[in-house]
Amino acid sequence: MTIKDGSIDPKIGLLRDISAIITSVLDLDQLLGLIIDTATRIMDAKASSLLLVDEERKKLRFFISTGEKKEKLKEYDLELGEGIAGWVAENGKPLLIEDVKNDERWNSKIGKALDFDVKSMACYPMKVQKRVIGVIEIINRKDGKPFRKRDMDILSAFTELVTNAIEKARRYRNVSKENIFLKKKFEKSYQIIGKSKAVKDVISDALKVADSKANTLLTGESGTGKELMARLVHNNSPRKRGPFVTVSCGALPETLLERELFGHEKGAFTGADKMKIGLFEAADGGTILLDEIGEMSQTMQVKLLRVLQESSFFRIGGTSSIQVDVRIIAATNQDLTTKVKEGSFREDLFYRLHVVSIKLPPLRDRIGDIPILIDHFLERHTEEYNSIKPTITKEAMERMVNYHWPGNIRQLENAVERAVVMGNGKEINSDDLPIDITRRELDIVKVGSTLKEAQERFKKEFLAKTLDYTNGNRTKAASVLGIQRTYLSRLLKELNVPGGRRRIMQSEVE
Ligand SMILES: Nc1ncnc2c1ncn2[C@@H]1O[C@H](COP(=O)(O)OP(=O)(O)OP(=O)(O)O)[C@@H](O)[C@H]1O
Ligand SMILES: [Mg+2]
Repeated sequence: MTIKDGSIDPKIGLLRDISAIITSVLDLDQLLGLIIDTATRIMDAKASSLLLVDEERKKLRFFISTGEKKEKLKEYDLELGEGIAGWVAENGKPLLIEDVKNDERWNSKIGKALDFDVKSMACYPMKVQKRVIGVIEIINRKDGKPFRKRDMDILSAFTELVTNAIEKARRYRNVSKENIFLKKKFEKSYQIIGKSKAVKDVISDALKVADSKANTLLTGESGTGKELMARLVHNNSPRKRGPFVTVSCGALPETLLERELFGHEKGAFTGADKMKIGLFEAADGGTILLDEIGEMSQTMQVKLLRVLQESSFFRIGGTSSIQVDVRIIAATNQDLTTKVKEGSFREDLFYRLHVVSIKLPPLRDRIGDIPILIDHFLERHTEEYNSIKPTITKEAMERMVNYHWPGNIRQLENAVERAVVMGNGKEINSDDLPIDITRRELDIVKVGSTLKEAQERFKKEFLAKTLDYTNGNRTKAASVLGIQRTYLSRLLKELNVPGGRRRIMQSEVE
């Protein structure tokens, strides 16, 4: 922009300086404040406002203002097309008005209500790719003279410079909000639900081992939450800011697993056209979960043992050894002790891996947790699909509590999800459940036993189940069963019902 004599207006230079500051601010409120203060200053104005288009309500909001009426103005908004700022927003064109009283677009309502004498006005639309996102409105020069074309040139240069900064800060705010939402969702999906003694014991053991670097073996049936527990250990360990890497040792053929774990040098085998680091390197400073460790081949077991002994390894085709600081957690749903006895799992590796071991209880041993787990999955499902949380009929709940859940929590989660999809949206009935309850009942009644034996087995099973349901609370269990607490205690003793039937951690240091 040049003045008549060809020199650049010094205010334009000032604008460039200010713009450098403004475009570096990402906090939207702070940025808008800075913009409007600067606009008032460079325009030598008495007051100004920044109005933003509310796309949903199709209105123009006084977002932030300067001048003596700045707080009051926030209570107002304009229709698009209403008043001078509304006209600018609707038409996407600037307006320079020397005396507003002579302009038919002028709407004196707000000026009168605020008892503010508006004389001259300069208004400029803020546009992002032809879309008007707001308006900057400057009111009354300090020296009492009307705004001129030169003022408008400055306002136009200023508005164009700051509009992109506003759009950037808005996008940044949206992304931050989304980030917080996703983080919460992520954390929720790794939340361990359960208040039964069995789960509390497991969690407390996991937290105890988290602090150390001790290799930990997680055992338990499929779907009991071994991976979830491994994450809990990692997230509560001093290496929580490091990576958490999982690898399923059963899912890959031996050669591929080796490449995955150790990486390879360029040209190590056909197709290795680039060097690639393996998961042990990727997990440096963090934790690696070796899932389904029981499925690992003998050859891989030897290679893994070497890593455990030396904390170092070679990439495939590599000649220099690589040192890593990785905590190893192994998980399996197999009985490794038996595998060791049979000779299919190396004893030395077994002892290296299970410095500490934690056994995850099957769901049928913690049926007291079933209702809260159901609630948790219902909530998660409802949030995911933005739907209303259905209720569960008493019959359906009873059926779920009594089912034996061979697939444990994963199966329960799937059952809840399916029931929500199959149900009527309001209520989950037992017909919506993909489970067959009869099997469990038949398991107890084995033909070939005497009636007395069958009765005893039933009693034992039934009492243990009820105790699980009440989280081991005998008084509550007696009340549910409709018997005296003392009688219950006697029965438990006579029938040898395992009271504290889950002892979870055993700590063995080599
Ligand atoms: N206590 C719990 N609270 C909430 N969700 C759980 C809990 N335990 C397990 N889950 C959920 O159940 C599913 C199975 O858990 P996870 O994958 O950790 O089991 P796993 O023991 O590793 O199973 P597998 O042996 O089949 O690999 C996951 O979706 C997990 O989020
Ligand atoms: Mg798993």
